[in-house]
Amino acid sequence: MSEVVSYQLQGNVGVITVNSPPVNALSQAVRKGILDGVKAAQADDSEAIVIRCDGRTFIAGADITEFGKPPLDPWLPEVLTAIENSRKPVIAAIHGTALGGGFEVALACHYRCAVASAMVGLPEVKLGLLPGAGGTQRVPRVAGVKAALDMITGGNPIAAAKAKDMGLIDEIVEGDDLAAGAVSYARDLVASGAPLKRIRDISIKKETIEPGFFDNARKQLAKRARGQIAQDRIVSCIEAAVNLPMDQGLARERELFQELVKSPESAAMRHIFFAERQAAKIKDLPKDTPIRDIKSVAIIGGGTMGGGIAMCFANVGVPVTLLEVNDEALQRGMGIIRKNYSITVQKGKMSEEQMEKRIGLIQGSTDYVEIADVDLVIEAVFENLELKKEIFARLDGVCKQGAILATNTSYQDVDAIAAATGRPQDVLGLHFFSPANVMKLLEVVRGEKTADDVLATSMAIGKKIGKVCALSRVCYGFIGNRMLGGYGREAQMLLLDGCTPEQVDSTLEEFGMAMGPLAMGDLAGLDVGYKARQARTDLPDDPKLYRMGTLLVEMGRHGQKTGSGFYKYDPETRQRQSDPEVDALIKEEAAKLGVEQRDISKEEILARCFYPLINEGAKILEEGIAQRPSDIDVVYVFGYAFPVAKGGPMFYADQVGLKNVYDKICEFRDRYGADYWQPAPLLEKLANEGKTFAQWDQERGDG
Ligand code: 3HC
Ligand code: NAI
Repeated sequence: MSEVVSYQLQGNVGVITVNSPPVNALSQAVRKGILDGVKAAQADDSEAIVIRCDGRTFIAGADITEFGKPPLDPWLPEVLTAIENSRKPVIAAIHGTALGGGFEVALACHYRCAVASAMVGLPEVKLGLLPGAGGTQRVPRVAGVKAALDMITGGNPIAAAKAKDMGLIDEIVEGDDLAAGAVSYARDLVASGAPLKRIRDISIKKETIEPGFFDNARKQLAKRARGQIAQDRIVSCIEAAVNLPMDQGLARERELFQELVKSPESAAMRHIFFAERQAAKIKDLPKDTPIRDIKSVAIIGGGTMGGGIAMCFANVGVPVTLLEVNDEALQRGMGIIRKNYSITVQKGKMSEEQMEKRIGLIQGSTDYVEIADVDLVIEAVFENLELKKEIFARLDGVCKQGAILATNTSYQDVDAIAAATGRPQDVLGLHFFSPANVMKLLEVVRGEKTADDVLATSMAIGKKIGKVCALSRVCYGFIGNRMLGGYGREAQMLLLDGCTPEQVDSTLEEFGMAMGPLAMGDLAGLDVGYKARQARTDLPDDPKLYRMGTLLVEMGRHGQKTGSGFYKYDPETRQRQSDPEVDALIKEEAAKLGVEQRDISKEEILARCFYPLINEGAKILEEGIAQRPSDIDVVYVFGYAFPVAKGGPMFYADQVGLKNVYDKICEFRDRYGADYWQPAPLLEKLANEGKTFAQWDQERGDG
């Protein structure tokens, strides 16, 4: 039939099998293969048709690589119409994940069966899209409007059992042999004379929808959508499912799907989908690099980070030994872990029993002897190079050969830490983000001598604990924190130039950042940056630099923890409020420093804060600190809450145009000085050549 889809008659059942690795996505060849299969089955002796897949999963969706390219026949709705109009019952047999267009194929079938481990879902919203092949019309007809809205705007897959409760799956097939189970289910349906159940024939009872339901949904979704339009369009489609006949509803869905495919938000989110997967690949590592077995882990230091990291491993069933300086520190660390888990239990996201099981996997210790046999050690003690070197020398003495020794340092030199051991090939940085059990990013920091299998193992273990990994070479602050310097600096400089803290933060929040940089400073504690700056000798001698942050700390305004910082905080709600005292102080300081205050546009606020990120990103690429521009985007989206709908700083720069970014940086250099605004040579080169970072990367090849 075709290379990726086959059709075979098994007695009275025609079986269409899709085999298009890795995830059986609905490429043109798969669409055509299924259509041909359905047509063939109409003409032979089959009495029912099963659609199933080989490999690890049922169809995981449309082929995302085809979006934005000229459409190729047959288009998916045509295939689904053929399935739905089949004269013989069509049964989807689901294993793995039936997602997006894949689940829509299943919904066009007359019956759906699945193994118990299967998941189904419509994750299109995560790509800035909506289900474009009937998902928004069929799910509300089966599962109800409210459940459909939650499922499609949330985008999270649901387990087979729940899907069955919702009516989305008809039969759970026991055992592992779905191919045989589905054929047997099909025969039972034929034998019982089961009707051709078409979801399109179900009509939704309008009177069951509360007045104002859709308006309320729109309002609530707008709050969490942050500059994304897909949620709003999904509501419109479900509204159409209620108010319009099926074909008109499908036409409306199609129209809005096309709008979203062309939207910049979806382009950015698709970029991040592939960037995330690309980032896990290390360019110069052979594919067959062996992986070390990680069966047990030790964490040195059970503070803010150590506790969260321990939870990451316990959550996936890996036993952890948490090592602290003394019993008191150990009890404090274990107490925080218990408190964090309890919050999850209170929210109903975990049972007491699960909590105890996970805590049971974390064993406390104050004795290095107890970690002699672990496979991986992650050090998370105070940010002090001498202390870290001391600890690594000790680990070298006690840990078994072949153990991976990692540091969670934010800024220290991983090579200097590795040199404190006699086995630098086993040492690397594993840089988690706070809170470590929540934040998705893991920067894997490759030292000068880190062995290939240590890197490959780290990428694999990162994936296992649910992190998005990105590789960085060693430099001050690695990719993420190094780039952040200019962002925080300019946020404060803008105050002296005439902005209020609220103006700076709200402009960046409107852009899509979860929290503006000044509010973020207040949350993290202004004293943290203050202390870090005092230890630095490389900062320009400029009284304007971090002036406001420094003054506030010296006034005892350390941020949320002291009730005030750039803002004052309501003690009850912790809501930020503008503080006239701070506004007056800024004016006073600007006058003292001879800075003439002026009205500053939102465009300038965005450029002043984001262009330093982009410029530093360009330097990081030139120096080979990051492998690719898209890796930097991954770091910012998953580690710093840069809006996914903007695709990360480097993708954003490509959309703005590198020439525009470069020209603006030159303008700022002339106005504010080359100490802060020296354009990166790579940015200058690409701006002059009229190229993007993505083109530059493609031309280099991804070897
Ligand atoms: N199209 C094209 N390629 C896809 C793809 C898709 N829908 N889904 C996955 N891939 C590719 C990945 O890019 C990756 O390629 P690589 O090996 O070259 O890096 C490979 O398949 C394996 O993917 P993962 O590494 O993600 O494998 P996992 O086993 O970890 O996860 C998965 C499998 C859960 C299916 C996950 O890949 C996934 O969530 N895929 C996307 C699902 C999705 O969003 N579907 C909806 C698409 S939009 C749509 O269907 C529109 C419709 O309504 C018309
Ligand atoms: P923390 O101060 O909360 O915890 C450090 C812990 O280490 C303390 O509990 C202390 O008792 C323990 N400790 C000190 N010396 C020890 C020793 N010799 N043996 C065993 N335990 C010892 O610090 P935090 O915030 O957890 O930071 C730890 C590391 O993680 C630092 O290197 C930091 O730069 C890095 N980091 C911190 C992030 C954050 O947001 N807090 C984010 C990413 C990395």
